[in-house]
Amino acid sequence: TAGVVSIPVVVHVVYKTAAENVSATQIQAQIDVLNKDFAKMNADASLVPAAFAGLAANTNIQFVLAKRDPNGNATTGIIRKLTKTTSFSSNDAVKNAKRGGDNAWPASSYLNLWVCNLGQGLLGYAQFPGGAASTDGVVILYSSLPGGTSRPYDKGRTATHEVGHWLNLRHIWGDASCGNDLVSDTPTQQAANYGCPSYPKVSCSNQGDMSMNYMDYTDDACMYMFSTGQSTRMNALFAAGGARASL
Ligand code: ARG
Ligand code: ZN
Ligand code: CA
Repeated sequence: TAGVVSIPVVVHVVYKTAAENVSATQIQAQIDVLNKDFAKMNADASLVPAAFAGLAANTNIQFVLAKRDPNGNATTGIIRKLTKTTSFSSNDAVKNAKRGGDNAWPASSYLNLWVCNLGQGLLGYAQFPGGAASTDGVVILYSSLPGGTSRPYDKGRTATHEVGHWLNLRHIWGDASCGNDLVSDTPTQQAANYGCPSYPKVSCSNQGDMSMNYMDYTDDACMYMFSTGQSTRMNALFAAGGARASL
């Protein structure tokens, strides 16, 4: 396959309070976490159990703050928008200027990443490939960025998880009891894991859940790999005819 895919990112910071108006430094730290996690350059990759070490993947997918806006003008890749909305939900209002949010840039050329306050304990959500361009992208809670206040979800792995969905990955338990995530090298597991399970945590007659996978629900400090099969599934989007080939 081809070399590294580098995806231009536009970050829409939709804020009401000063804390929600995250700094450019923190945004760059989030991009750095994405790049490390997707390249298997994360320091905690060394924690992957021996049983899965051969499956931990460098996806060859990377992220860079956009340098050109849709009109071809120079940009920092960071848009700041003051809102009257105290907290958003998964109803996509944050993606719509008429509903207190900020409109998407063309999904054919950018990963839209909205950073805002979210209610109901929501850390983030994403749109799978193939949906409407106006709502395409990823939304993350402002305090989930690296160094944020939403411990134990404060190392930027919410973005890693949500970008995984945006690149067509399902939850590792397939959103059903012993469900199917459409990836063959991730063991079938019974349900979401939370916290920090010790390996092996056996379910569905597997050899141990891959609870350290970014697509589980474990703490940020306890998720540190994508599998080869997940990498293949994501990269298929960039092949000719793939849903994100235009990137
Ligand atoms: N979609 C999930 C939620 O909002 C995100 C889980 C992210 N997990 C994490 N360790 N950061 O609940
Ligand atoms: Zn998820
Ligand atoms: Ca699987």
